[in-house]
Amino acid sequence: RFAYVNGRYVRHAEAAVSIEDRGFVFADAVYEVCQIQQGLIVDLTRHLDRLDRSLGEIRIRPPMPRAALVGIMREVLRRNRVVDGMVYLQVTRGRAKRDHVFPSPEVRASFVVTAKSMNPAVNAAKYAAGIKAITVAENRWGRVDIKTVGLLPNVLARQQAKEAGAQEAIFVDADGNVTEGGATNLWIVDKVGTLVTRPADHGILKGITRTTLMDVAEKLGIAVEERRFSVAEMLEAREVFVTGATTICLPVVSIDGHTIANGHPGMTAQKIREAFFAVAE
Ligand code: PDD
Repeated sequence: RFAYVNGRYVRHAEAAVSIEDRGFVFADAVYEVCQIQQGLIVDLTRHLDRLDRSLGEIRIRPPMPRAALVGIMREVLRRNRVVDGMVYLQVTRGRAKRDHVFPSPEVRASFVVTAKSMNPAVNAAKYAAGIKAITVAENRWGRVDIKTVGLLPNVLARQQAKEAGAQEAIFVDADGNVTEGGATNLWIVDKVGTLVTRPADHGILKGITRTTLMDVAEKLGIAVEERRFSVAEMLEAREVFVTGATTICLPVVSIDGHTIANGHPGMTAQKIREAFFAVAE
């Protein structure tokens, strides 16, 4: 496998960043993950818009103009022969002597791009069976709308899920309301058939898949409501599913050992997933 690292295309075995890189030392870095579907970078513009926003929020200057960045993404995909899979981008504040405050004078941002192939059959199997999830207490910082690589709570939550025989952890805030999954946004189909997801405030990542799914739902004539919902409402929902760039739209059939609806993936999740690629750019 080949990666792009600060101006060069290198094999993973030779790819390296400095031990003084602020991404390594402070998680002072942001990232993006895009799905590659039959050679197409799904929702590319929205992902790059969000990268710009994340960089702006933590005041890192974009490493290069957008056209150059897209050129690198495509070259990394080409060198790794990715047709179906994902591309990963990470930008850090760069390399400097360890000091919490920003380096002054400013240093050049570090920029890394990797890509990998993923067999679509793996997702297909998950779509057919659905996944299990657990709930965990929300313990992240107050700006999870910024897509930073500071993902330790997410890592621990997903590990806890795995050890419980589940595939996703669902964060629940102090009011008993659902925020999002460890690496996904969470949706329910409520009692009256409305698609419901939490409003995109500072308490969730405003997923690109989430945004595009709203376009899809509108095209399909499915009502969408952005409002908070409790764990109790989620457990009684007609359907529960999670969305994210690596899985698009994945049904959840069991939460904390409680079966959702009849325990099988619902029709809404399936319809939306099938319509998804018609609107993704
Ligand atoms: N995760 N919420 C969290 C905490 C996430 O990490 C992600 C994405 C999402 C969904 O966002 P999007 O639809 O833009 O992928 C929501 C990526 C895929 C990851 O960390 O691997």
